[in-house]
Amino acid sequence: MSKKQMKGIVLAGGTATRLFPLTATTSKQLLPVYDRQMVFYPLNVLVKAGIKDILVIVAPEHSGQFLNLLGSIFKNHGIHLYFEVQKVPRGLADAFIQGESFIDDGNVAMILGDNIFEDDLTSHIKNFSSGGVIFAKQVPDPERFGVVDFDAQGKALSIEEKPEKPKSNFCVTGAYIYDNRVVEIAKNLEPSIRGEIEITSINQKYLEMGELKVNTITGEWLDAGTYDSLLAAGNIVRDKEIYKNFDPLIDQAISEFNAELKAIAKKKLL
Ligand code: TTP
Repeated sequence: MSKKQMKGIVLAGGTATRLFPLTATTSKQLLPVYDRQMVFYPLNVLVKAGIKDILVIVAPEHSGQFLNLLGSIFKNHGIHLYFEVQKVPRGLADAFIQGESFIDDGNVAMILGDNIFEDDLTSHIKNFSSGGVIFAKQVPDPERFGVVDFDAQGKALSIEEKPEKPKSNFCVTGAYIYDNRVVEIAKNLEPSIRGEIEITSINQKYLEMGELKVNTITGEWLDAGTYDSLLAAGNIVRDKEIYKNFDPLIDQAISEFNAELKAIAKKKLL
């Protein structure tokens, strides 16, 4: 069987209530993290891994802003960005329903639009063959997160959402790789008590099938969803020079974009 094409999704919709009023005027993922918009961090994970087709899922109120920034930015770089508007923030698992026709018969790597990874996930994305792959990070307060327990081979044993008594101190981060079955799995999910279709339910399905693999990450992992974590993300990215780890293609695309804007502004002044 030939290896299925890997598609990429950046999930950049949502309501971002924890960042109100900053997000009353723009999207969380368009807020700056040090020297560039947050969305470039998850995009970088996928671009670095050589993925050429990437779907950016956005909320309706910010779709124009996303298009202004990203609509043409990779046009000379062989990367095709697609956009989908998620009208209602139905939950993280909705990405695979919104993205059904985009995913087609491929496998898919999905990164949350507000997650910043210092680790390079490229080898895991490139070597993926089937099942589900998630990335776990050791944290001091696992009860705040989805918690995964796994064996020495990285096979998941249990996965629990915000457990009172966590079975491990590894939390599930916002990067996921699934085979094509994820679309059908997502379409058959029932909403949870909070009314969302949960990515934890998808992971539980792969766990039940004995096909959920856990990789641990050791570098910084930041979820820039609150005032404090957004501020910390900017500082850590600067202090640890994480902004220097971007794929050269993204740096070049951003420079070209900036140069173009400057040239237009100069013309207007003449
Ligand atoms: P969250 O941080 O869980 O949700 P949120 O961004 O709406 O923020 P808050 O809890 O403060 O209201 O979402 C994680 C990422 O997934 C983030 O990039 C937004 C995105 N997202 C969607 O695109 N669609 C959705 O339906 C949900 C729930 C999240």
